[in-house]
Amino acid sequence: MTEDSSIPASASTSERIADLKARYSEAVTATEAAAQEKQHAKGKKTARERVEELVDTGSFVEIDEYVRHRSQAFGMDAKRPYGDSVVTGFATIHGRQVAVFSQDFTIFGGSLGEVAGDKIIKIMDLALSTRVPLIGILDSGGARIQEGVIALGKYGEIFKRNTRASGVIPQISIVCGPAAGGAVYSPALTDFVIMVDKTSQMFVTGPDVIKAVTGEDVGMEELGGALTHNKTSGVAHYLASDESDALDYARVLLSYLPDNCDSGAPTYAAESNLEITDRDRRLNEVIPDSASIPYDVTTIIEGVVDAGSFLEVQPLFAPNIVVGFARVEGESVGIIANQPNHMAGTLNIDAGEKAARFVRFCDAFGIPILTLVDVPGYLPGTDQEWTGVIRRGAKLLYAYAEASVPLVTVITRKAYGGAYIVMGSKQLGADLNFAWPTAEIAVMGGQGAVNILYRGDLKKAEEAGEDVEAVRARLANEYTYSVASPFLAAERGEIDGVIEPAATRSSIAKGLRALKSKKAVPPEGKHGNIPL
Ligand code: HXC
Repeated sequence: MTEDSSIPASASTSERIADLKARYSEAVTATEAAAQEKQHAKGKKTARERVEELVDTGSFVEIDEYVRHRSQAFGMDAKRPYGDSVVTGFATIHGRQVAVFSQDFTIFGGSLGEVAGDKIIKIMDLALSTRVPLIGILDSGGARIQEGVIALGKYGEIFKRNTRASGVIPQISIVCGPAAGGAVYSPALTDFVIMVDKTSQMFVTGPDVIKAVTGEDVGMEELGGALTHNKTSGVAHYLASDESDALDYARVLLSYLPDNCDSGAPTYAAESNLEITDRDRRLNEVIPDSASIPYDVTTIIEGVVDAGSFLEVQPLFAPNIVVGFARVEGESVGIIANQPNHMAGTLNIDAGEKAARFVRFCDAFGIPILTLVDVPGYLPGTDQEWTGVIRRGAKLLYAYAEASVPLVTVITRKAYGGAYIVMGSKQLGADLNFAWPTAEIAVMGGQGAVNILYRGDLKKAEEAGEDVEAVRARLANEYTYSVASPFLAAERGEIDGVIEPAATRSSIAKGLRALKSKKAVPPEGKHGNIPL
């Protein structure tokens, strides 16, 4: 508000409105204009531009537009614009209500002080009380240095709300700039983190501190850039090529998610012809003739869900397991599938943690889970054992075992050992378990079993001058067709049926129809103690 503005007592209503507009539509200062230019030069949008692009046109209602930071300590300019360093409000996306905050790097570097913190807290409270998804756009230098403990305290209040909202409303973070120090933990507590390639970074301690403490020389991008967090650390779930791609992914992601844990995900009109078609019959050709030849499991996923509906989540991290959302007969499902194209689809710590978190998200928000199994086992090695494959691998077991949403599992090829049990087995609580005729369900693969069980026979064959490899192959084949046969599992009721690949789409759809009324039994006790 300009200090010399005044209005005579005799002013009319329209004059008062005009005066009000003039007072508060403060011109962008030269500092802000320069900051916005700097932002655009880096390929970054301003906070408001991002919100406008994210939400339905004209739907954004800003709140706290006129608040101003209170701290004038350490030479902070009291005349910086209204709103402080974050834009907050509510809007719609695809006609559905959402709450949004968008940090404004052009004001105090998007840093979080008392007022900016209170704005975020207010919008989080609104999201929670109205039970709508919360989308945070992050672009901030972290805690406002001038405001000291007050800034830190606001982060604490935000983290508390992120945690309270967890499993109640979907929370999506879009990181469009820096997120440093403890500030990274708000996105980390949310369900999905989207990062923009080259212009976003997340780290707890920056390159300078690392250099001073450990002597390590590492750049910002390598340390905490979008590629690093999508591929190496698993912090992020999508690597956006630019900001528009990031905002677009968030909108599409939201279309699979419910508003809250009680509302059910939106449904879309879809064709529900369950007759077997040529598309279905192509699934009969997916599994290679040899068990050691890989294939791309996304071919199967795309063959059993509504055409074009598969949205992969976290594709670059632990690619040996695929997770994502899709639709079956217009309804959201979560997909978890071993990927034989990467590390033969073995499970390791990263894959287990990636899938466990995804299972828990789906379970919290009532999204049925479809699991596709082709897993030769856990990745062996000291690296895995010493980094806690026992403790960390148990997360996926725990997640499936506690899940109460409809669970449908299809074993397409290998399902060996502990990995068979963990991947949505009947014994862990899956509702419907099918196997393809090509499935092998056993303690281990044929070769491994023969090496242990028929060691003597193989030795005798060698001594008799027989072709040992041919004998081994014959015995392994016999084992696979007897002990590991899916028909044996079906005979014992360990699985519910053996289906032709071409019948998979209709079996899944009919199964999900049947499971629609499944009721969750509330867990006993305050909460479980997942091995973290
Ligand atoms: C106050 C800040 C600020 C901060 C940036 N600015 N960070 N003001 N508090 N934390 C201001 C700058 O002074 C500058 O103001 C404007 O924002 C733009 O910053 P630049 O440095 O010019 O931008 P750039 O070169 O792009 O560098 C961005 C940056 C750098 C990498 C984020 O600003 C930076 O390193 N900032 C400090 C990061 C940090 O260590 N934060 C604390 C983390 S600890 P003018 O007026 O010149 O435009 C933390 C604890 C959270 O956050 C605890 C939670 C429990």
